[in-house]
Amino acid sequence: MAMRSHYCGLVTEALMGQTVSLCGWVNRRRDHGGVIFIDLRDREGYVQVVCDPDRPEMFKVAEDIRNEFCVRVQGVVRARPAGTTNDKLKSGQIEVLCHELDVLNPSVTPPFQMDDDNLSETTRLTHRVMDLRRPAMQRNLMLRYKTAIQVRNFLDKEGFVDIETPMLGKSTPEGARDYLVPSRVHDGQFFALPQSPQLYKQMLMVAGYDRYYQITKCFRDEDLRADRQPEFTQIDCETSFLNEEEIRAIFQRMIVEVFKQQLDVDLGEFPTMAYAEAMHRFGSDKPDLRVKLEFTELTDVMRDVDFKVFSTPATTKGGRVVALRVPGGAAISRGEIDQYTEFVKIYGAKGLAWIKVNEAAKGRDGLQSPIVKNIHDAAIAEILKRTGAQDGDLVFFGADKEKIVNDSIGALRLKVGHSEFGRQNGLFENRWAPLWVVDFPMFEHDEDEDRWVAVHHPFTSPKDGHEDLMDTDPGKCIAKAYDMVLNGWELGGGSVRIHRADVQSKVFSALKIGPEDARAKFGYLLDALQYGAPPHGGLAFGLDRLITLMTGAESIRDVIAFPKTQRAQDLLTQAPSPVDEKQLRELHIRLRNPVPAVG
Ligand code: AMO
Ligand code: AMP
Repeated sequence: MAMRSHYCGLVTEALMGQTVSLCGWVNRRRDHGGVIFIDLRDREGYVQVVCDPDRPEMFKVAEDIRNEFCVRVQGVVRARPAGTTNDKLKSGQIEVLCHELDVLNPSVTPPFQMDDDNLSETTRLTHRVMDLRRPAMQRNLMLRYKTAIQVRNFLDKEGFVDIETPMLGKSTPEGARDYLVPSRVHDGQFFALPQSPQLYKQMLMVAGYDRYYQITKCFRDEDLRADRQPEFTQIDCETSFLNEEEIRAIFQRMIVEVFKQQLDVDLGEFPTMAYAEAMHRFGSDKPDLRVKLEFTELTDVMRDVDFKVFSTPATTKGGRVVALRVPGGAAISRGEIDQYTEFVKIYGAKGLAWIKVNEAAKGRDGLQSPIVKNIHDAAIAEILKRTGAQDGDLVFFGADKEKIVNDSIGALRLKVGHSEFGRQNGLFENRWAPLWVVDFPMFEHDEDEDRWVAVHHPFTSPKDGHEDLMDTDPGKCIAKAYDMVLNGWELGGGSVRIHRADVQSKVFSALKIGPEDARAKFGYLLDALQYGAPPHGGLAFGLDRLITLMTGAESIRDVIAFPKTQRAQDLLTQAPSPVDEKQLRELHIRLRNPVPAVG
């Protein structure tokens, strides 16, 4: 007989009476005084194996096996006795009566219980092999694989061609720090790992491949969060001769089909929202539309109030004052408001003013608040009118530079919406909330360096008719750029590119990148654009983020087999690590702060 005839998790009534041979890991061994039960596990699930003492040789082996031993079982499939079936398992109607039991390899005691759901991430990442053996992780990685292959099939049918691009290349312009690779052959010179294949895919369009895709690694040395990794995977796509709407339509269809097939979820039509509207209503370019709270604009109302905290930003260029009405929020305690006040400080806010509306009909006497004494009647009336606040509501206020208000009140909106209070009071809708955010500005102003920087990247095309704004009023220039957002996460983003050298020069001059600098950095792309470059555009999805959302995992690290920690380390292999002096010498590198040799 073959070493294995079936997967454990797939043995069902269909095999009743047949002899099967199964290989897997001992999930649990239960000694029922005389009879030993083994829950045998493999990638496909569990099966119950029964070891009877009337086969003494086999039974002796069964007595000695322990959790996570790798074993082979040969036996006969039979019905489970009435009352012992398990409808949660595919194999739950049957069990395998063991005839032969071989230990293929024993295991030392595992570092943790395989069903322990409260492990620290450090433990899990240090013992990643055993962590990956757990069914939840196997489900995540299986879904990742199935999604990737569905995406490949979809793109193949749409005429996209998978073309590999280099890992060792020149620095690209996505805006994060590069991971550098020193050249041994060229003393003092470095490759950069790609932050994305952006310029390569554009050159493939010029080369006439028409439609390109790649599921590929990208590398960015940036501050890490729950939804970021230093190396992550993009579903990277580019196409020629399609306009913005056509590009979005293809990729919306791709994501809709993935959700339908993998999760049986119907995402429906995606709403489209302009960047300006998203910032205005939610303070974010990736609004989580499941949270039913919105900003109320008050900048114009607060110009002439006595309260300097509000009137100063209201009368200063680049300042903003908003309210966030929380229906039913009067039930939120002072202690909780204090916690929210601390929370918004993370985003640079200096405080968090608030009004509890006890009885609106009584005017200012019906309000409880540390700030109303400094706000005149007309402004109070306008606050109540614009927010629509009712008795029993709480209204929060943010006043500062626009970015600080957007970041802090935007984060507060999510925090309150997702809180226990928010969920119980209907401020959070449990559904899938996709949308396109479109009409991004071309440039944003970097206050520290007092210059314009590209919001997407410098190869993004301005809207038709906006070309001249690049000279006259860069802040008003809108780009043909779009992001797909799901449940408050930026799932993917892209743009229509510039395909004409004259427009590209205008962008560089708006960004204060001189002609020589542009040549040194991107000369190869500028040259390519001169050979009849086709109109083209595309986008890239973060595969890790997509799978994280689909699985409901808490962190992107739960859908990556071997991720890095928040501190950009691999706890399993202990990378990064010091290297030999000899290797450094070959690379012409001398360390400024030599790491002491280990051991
Ligand atoms: P962008 O920089 O928006 O666009 O990246 C595309 C998508 O990649 C994902 N992503 C990340 N995922 C995990 N960890 C990270 N550190 C990380 N950074 C980005 C996000 C994001 O939406 N070349 C352009 C695309 C284009 O214009 O076609 C680009 O890279 O889901
Ligand atoms: P103060 O005048 O510092 O006593 O603040 C009065 C109230 O305004 C307190 O509730 C503060 O939390 C709040 N506050 C202070 N600065 C800001 C700000 N920039 N935006 C919103 N509220 C603020």
